[in-house]
Amino acid sequence: MRTIAVINQKGGVGKTTVTLNLSHALALRGYRVLAIDADPQGHLTMAFGLEDPVGLDRVLHGEARLEDACSEAGNGLQIVAAGEHLQEVENLNEGGAERGWRLKRALEDLRQPFDFVLIDCPPSAGLLGMNAIIAASEMLIPVAGDFLSLNGLSRLMRILQGVEDRLGGERPKWVVLSRFVEQRRHSREVRERIREHFGEGLLPTTIRESVVLAESPSFGQTIFEYQSRHRAAEDFLHLADDLVAAGGQRMSADPQAAQA
Ligand SMILES: Nc1ncnc2c1ncn2[C@@H]1O[C@H](COP(=O)(O)OP(=O)(O)O)[C@@H](O)[C@H]1O
Ligand SMILES: [Mg+2]
Repeated sequence: MRTIAVINQKGGVGKTTVTLNLSHALALRGYRVLAIDADPQGHLTMAFGLEDPVGLDRVLHGEARLEDACSEAGNGLQIVAAGEHLQEVENLNEGGAERGWRLKRALEDLRQPFDFVLIDCPPSAGLLGMNAIIAASEMLIPVAGDFLSLNGLSRLMRILQGVEDRLGGERPKWVVLSRFVEQRRHSREVRERIREHFGEGLLPTTIRESVVLAESPSFGQTIFEYQSRHRAAEDFLHLADDLVAAGGQRMSADPQAAQA
């Protein structure tokens, strides 16, 4: 099971858009996928069109099992909604250091493992973000492609480094340019800077800025449900393939599901 935190403490960089559409792309490739909304704003929950199910809030408060919080979205895709009380988890005082390990433990408790678990992180480095970082075996960092995002990136790397130093062991970190405009010279320059720093960690596929990606969530749809033939859908299938290749491990995909 590859557990991937889609993380960047900067808001508006495309975390939710990437989690939504990459989850569906991986499911279309035949993998068993779980998408978890760990942002109290609940944007991923809304984008999947979920209404009021048991959410991650109940799981992190120890009131429900992760399995009972999973909702079916078809295509092999399961989703855990944020839940109304997720913000309160940030203010948990009891539990000491154990508070940061609850999501990891909940994932370990799953009876049916998934091929991929994607966690849509909040734009902060609080307790929810900590739960995601500790639970994750890898980080996927969406970067919008402007100079300000480079600034946020070095701060994020320091945060991740700090946690890794305490936990021991480095986790693979992948960067995806998530709102890329090839025609902009400064976007191309940002790409070069990131490539210099991350090398192979910068995934070859970039997600291009496309208005359909901003539209689909308002219909409770992924890009594959909204406009499956759009180049944005193509970008996400290629991104899924990048991630599978980057994992370097062969996993059994169900070819029938891949054709769905
Ligand atoms: N590649 C893209 N093309 C066009 N709009 C995008 C793209 N990626 C994200 N957006 C839009 O930008 C806004 C912020 O994206 P979002 O995924 O919510 O970021 P985050 O979760 O990091 O805050 C949303 O309105 C979203 O629809
Ligand atoms: Mg978001």
